[in-house]
Amino acid sequence: MKDIIEILCNEHRIIDEKIKQLDEFTNLKEIDLYQPLQEILQFLKNEITEKHHRRENEVLYTWMVEQNKNADTELINRIISEHNYIDKLIQECLNIMNKPQDNYIALKMKILDLTTSYKAHMEKEEKFIFQIANALKCSNRKSKELLNKLIKIPRKA
Ligand SMILES: [Fe+2]
Ligand SMILES: [Fe+2]
Repeated sequence: MKDIIEILCNEHRIIDEKIKQLDEFTNLKEIDLYQPLQEILQFLKNEITEKHHRRENEVLYTWMVEQNKNADTELINRIISEHNYIDKLIQECLNIMNKPQDNYIALKMKILDLTTSYKAHMEKEEKFIFQIANALKCSNRKSKELLNKLIKIPRKA
């Protein structure tokens, strides 16, 4: 399971860099950086919604629940509902970007919510959930099978 956790943590570092860039926008008075802001949000949609969350949900968290249904189901359900909340926020920010001049305050609030929520989410995963995953037994064969499944998400066209 170490390989998978390492890949997911590396993705966190890449996402974290973008989240920090996004944080800087909430300090600006005007949205005069429309283009880079839109690019960052689109990057986050691709990296988080289309890739990272799917890798966690479809591979790691699905496997964890299979291992320990009673103990982990509630925890995993909670973390997956955080994914849904974050995905929705990213999409809402992108929607507002279509006419940011009218919705500057709303956009700023949503970006703030997004950056704050995501930092807390990644910390919870790394300090808590990934530790639980690492402690669960997993055969080499199963581990390879899961890794194989993970790297195919998202499937290239
Ligand atoms: Fe996550
Ligand atoms: Fe994550």
